[in-house]
Amino acid sequence: MPDGPTETDDLFALPPLESGAPKSEFPKAEIFPQAAYQIVHDELMLDGVARMNLATFCTTWVDDQARRLMNESIDKNIVDKDEYPQTAELERRCVRMLADLWQAPDPATTLGTSTTGSSEAAMLGGLAAKFRWRNRGGQGIPNFVCGPVQVCWEKFARYFDVDIRQIPLRGDRLTMHPDDIAAHCDENTMMVVPTFGQTFTGLFEDVAGISRALDDLQAETGLDIPIHVDAASGGFLAPFTAPELVWDFRLPRVKSINASGHKTGLAPLGAGWAIWREKADLPEELIFNVDYLGGNMATFNLNFSRPGGQVVTSYYEFIRLGREGYRRVQSAAYTAAQHLAAGIERLGPFEIIHGGDPLHGIAAVSWRIKGDQPFNLYDLSDRLRTRGWLVAAYPLPADRDDETIMRVLIRHGFSHDMSDLFLTDMHRALGQLDKHPPTVPLTHEEAGGFTHSATPTVPTEELRQRAGLA
Ligand SMILES: Cc1ncc(COP(=O)(O)O)c(C=O)c1O
Repeated sequence: MPDGPTETDDLFALPPLESGAPKSEFPKAEIFPQAAYQIVHDELMLDGVARMNLATFCTTWVDDQARRLMNESIDKNIVDKDEYPQTAELERRCVRMLADLWQAPDPATTLGTSTTGSSEAAMLGGLAAKFRWRNRGGQGIPNFVCGPVQVCWEKFARYFDVDIRQIPLRGDRLTMHPDDIAAHCDENTMMVVPTFGQTFTGLFEDVAGISRALDDLQAETGLDIPIHVDAASGGFLAPFTAPELVWDFRLPRVKSINASGHKTGLAPLGAGWAIWREKADLPEELIFNVDYLGGNMATFNLNFSRPGGQVVTSYYEFIRLGREGYRRVQSAAYTAAQHLAAGIERLGPFEIIHGGDPLHGIAAVSWRIKGDQPFNLYDLSDRLRTRGWLVAAYPLPADRDDETIMRVLIRHGFSHDMSDLFLTDMHRALGQLDKHPPTVPLTHEEAGGFTHSATPTVPTEELRQRAGLA
């Protein structure tokens, strides 16, 4: 390759930028890094603006110190615990801190791990339940009981050959209800998975109520069924903003919890956590002792190599903010959510499902259309996109998939002012839709097909019967 462009060369008049970017075949020749950078950088301009992406749960704002730590860790592989002992030490500290935050009986000795996100952490929690069930003498294919779950649980069921028993929604019950639990459990039920901060609506499932229902079931039948809490978003909210809510290791039936560090944990993308109540709740079969990188180390992850920066910045956030700082940051998100919910309700055509009450759900707002309107929520989502706002509209899970809802997530960095800008744009969009009603309303697929679940979660005939629906 010739030397790089000279100072008098115009990058856009050089051959790589004059012709198009390679798209399919592996390119033959090399080009200057400046040109390659410009091609990639410019193409990414077509992506949405992350902070205006109100469909994502994940971090879209990090401070300069976190960015610096991420940069300083860019070459560290977290699995090399012998080579990077201090990164490993920070991970251990984070595990203890989270066990403390979620009130494990003995946070200093329990086990946990960082992961790439809640999906990996959920699968580890599910695998631990599967091994415990098998070690108790379980045979055949185990099942787990849940409400409307994020797609990671459908993946877990399929990848690891486990039956998923999703309790269908009915009427106004938009979360798994304790009354429905017993009918779905049997001797092959290895765990019940409440979602603490449901993906579709943002609502908390009643973990304490579900735990009591399982106590009753045990008293009646002898079945002792543990709980894994999917606290992907709620795990870093309720301990600070609703400490009186009992959903965590204070309930003896809760054996493991997953949460996303890269959601309400405030870490950059790629951070998740799985924590077990006590050491004995993580079966030894899941732990591998690896010694070919230097020292001997225990791993219980699905990935081997992973970047270390996410753990480093998680530790930074924990010590920088502490309980008081997290309470302030998360309370501000809830206040913005409530402000937004009140504004959306005032617009007229909407009914709020979750208005950002910290006792009932995560810092989010979800709503449905009231009565007959000349547009649907996909049309509204499409109009909002013209101003840069990315807002998810999707059908509810079975058996309420006849209804479409809309949801926005309020995250660190979404200010009161941004709420007002968003409300003004909602108002503008409604005015446009009123004046130019869509002659053919958009469909879910045409609006991008945003979804949280892999397949329509239509329950089996048997489950419908058990739930009294058939
Ligand atoms: C309740 C719940 N569980 C699991 C996940 C998957 O988390 P991650 O994206 O961190 O893998 C999500 C993501 O939105 C979620 O909301």
